[in-house]
Order: sequence, then structure tokens, then C-alpha cells
Amino acid sequence: MKDYIGIFDSGIGGLSILEKVRELLPNENILYYKDYKNLPYGNKSTKELIEITSNIVSNLLKRNCKIIVIACNTATTVCLEALKEKYPEVIFVGVVPAIKLATNDNYQNILLMATPKTIEAKRTLELIEENKGKKNIYLLSCPGLAEAIEEGNREKLLTLLNNLLKDYKNKKIDAVVLGCTHYSFIKDEIKSILKDVQLIDGTIGVSNNVKKQLEEHNLLNKDGKGEVLFLNSF
Ligand code: DGL
Repeated sequence: MKDYIGIFDSGIGGLSILEKVRELLPNENILYYKDYKNLPYGNKSTKELIEITSNIVSNLLKRNCKIIVIACNTATTVCLEALKEKYPEVIFVGVVPAIKLATNDNYQNILLMATPKTIEAKRTLELIEENKGKKNIYLLSCPGLAEAIEEGNREKLLTLLNNLLKDYKNKKIDAVVLGCTHYSFIKDEIKSILKDVQLIDGTIGVSNNVKKQLEEHNLLNKDGKGEVLFLNSF
């Protein structure tokens, strides 16, 4: 039986991570689980999210996944600790808002865009406290944005985005942290509203971490051509 890197998200968001993992590890088989049934994660309770993500992890383990990538900031910031406790034998890699990356670069005014649940997550607030220093970090909760990206109605998406970003158009913002994997797909749209900002996401860090974990656990597929399988919950 083939072994897989299991990657999941509530929808297409995690595909940006899948792409980077595939580039870096072309020999690996990947199973991408798109939990469309439970989209959006960003407005669910912690209890619901832990239940949902635990079921996905169990499902992926049954399908021979050797490592599980939580390709979702919401699920990572809210559930990663609980999942590690529940499945101590499993190797997890998650994605958190790239606050560290943004503050390490010389940006003074940083806007974090994320789902409501990520914005209020304890882990997110810790990340900000750990890295903030003297920088200004503004938090922008974006209800409905991941769903609008999934829906693909451009007009609706732009109306929502303009509305969400209206208070920041005339503010000095140097960098925007894309704190939801779905937002990687609307970089041009964000730039059309907030001109001259740098957009920062954590996808490259995640793929490097997947490689590192597989190396450390001696689980890398050294040869062969990897395949990608997609599973959806409907
Ligand atoms: N793509 C996810 C994230 O990174 C979640 C979007 C959602 O389902 O609300 O937060």
C-alpha cells in the first residue's frame, strides 16, 4: 500500500500548500482532503472544529498517511494542540499566520487578515505578543471571505473585499499577512485595493517543514513519481 502525505483544508485554500509540497517533494504521494461539507471553519466553535478535524485525521490515518498537513490557519491555531494530544504518534505540520516572517522583515505597519476564529485564537494572540516588538499589527477579521473565494463570484468578492479593507485604504500599511490559506488566491484583488503593500503567506515555510519532518523520521520517498489523490466531503 502506498504511503501518503495527507493534506486537508475546508476547501481550495490548502491547494496553495499542496502546490509547494509537490514542487519540493515530487516523489511523494499526496492525498488532499477538501472538507467542503464543513466550510467555513472560520465561524465554528472550538468544540466543533476539534470534532471535525479529529474525524479527518482518523480518516487520513486509515488511508495510510504518514504525515498530516493541516493546510488551514483556523484549524491549526484552534486545534493543533488538541490533535497532538489525541494522536501523539502522528506527525503534524500546521500553518499559522506568518507574523514572525512579517516582523522579521523590516515592515513597521502590518495588517493581519484572517477568519474570525483565527483572529480570536489564543495561538494567534501569542504569535503577535512574541513577535510584535515596536511594530503596529492591525487585526482584520474577514467573515465570509473564504466562502466568497470558494464561490468564485468576482463581483461579490470584490464588494466584500472593498468593504473589509475600507478602513485601511488610507492608512499606512507596509505588509499584509494572509492568515487564511484561501487568501493566497486573491493576491491581485487585495493589491488592487491596498496599493504598494507586500503580501506574506506561510506556504513555503510549511513545505520546508514537511520535508524536514519526513527527513528526520526517515520517511522520505527517495524515488518514483508521486501521485496526487483528491478526496471531497460533500
Ligand atoms: N483556509 C482556512 C484557513 O486557512 C479556513 C477557511 C474557512 O473555512 O473559514 O483559515
